[in-house]
Amino acid sequence: MTSTRLYINVDHVATVREARRTDEPDPVAAALLCETAGAEGITAHLREDRRHIQDLDVERLRASVRVLNLELATSPGVVALACRLRPYQATLVPERREEITTEGGLDLSRPHPMLRETIRSLEESGARVSLFIDPDLSTIDAAKDLGVPAVELHTGRYANSWRRGVAALDELRQAARHAADMGLFVHAGHGLTYANVAPVAAIPEIEELNIGHSVVSRSIMVGMKAAVSEMREAMQLGAGS
Ligand code: PXP
Repeated sequence: MTSTRLYINVDHVATVREARRTDEPDPVAAALLCETAGAEGITAHLREDRRHIQDLDVERLRASVRVLNLELATSPGVVALACRLRPYQATLVPERREEITTEGGLDLSRPHPMLRETIRSLEESGARVSLFIDPDLSTIDAAKDLGVPAVELHTGRYANSWRRGVAALDELRQAARHAADMGLFVHAGHGLTYANVAPVAAIPEIEELNIGHSVVSRSIMVGMKAAVSEMREAMQLGAGS
């Protein structure tokens, strides 16, 4: 069995809840099921627009799960909340309001005082800071210069092209090796699915995978039969009255 840690991103459990602004499905209850199933960690992204995960979800996740990896951008309100809650890990990501999901890694090509300041605040609060970056060597060097212990390599390019050749996988392999040679812990994620995950999980330097959409999608499919049976039973409760 691979020793790569599996962190499940529960954002899209909250996406379904927010579609009705109700209280189900609960991302915290889902996170506890993920832990029971063997996930080593739980990931959640508190976006500035609060489109899925809400502040209270992060508070409850922090109080409930063993290992919380909070994804966040450098927006001051979210950073303040992260510093107060002190998750085990804080992964800094770029964020654009109009995007459907995080589209690329952090741009580290120019000096970024806000990013430095955010890293410092998070580290002072006790969180282990990771930077979500594209798998290219100069960006890895820039991440190292920022003094963080870990990077998460964006696997989006691989996820979009794995059927057409190995170039993006080779790029990931090279990037992972380079990051590990620089003394960084290496994580990876985005767009990984049951069909494309194995070659990434086999890259020896990658210690942690963050996977969300595919697992939440699959859980609907493997859970639908039981959910329909339970609704049928619930309907029977009124049959005798
Ligand atoms: N890692 C990061 C930094 C992300 O922003 C996301 C998406 O929220 C993921 C991993 C998980 O991506 P996916 O939902 O495609 O598995």
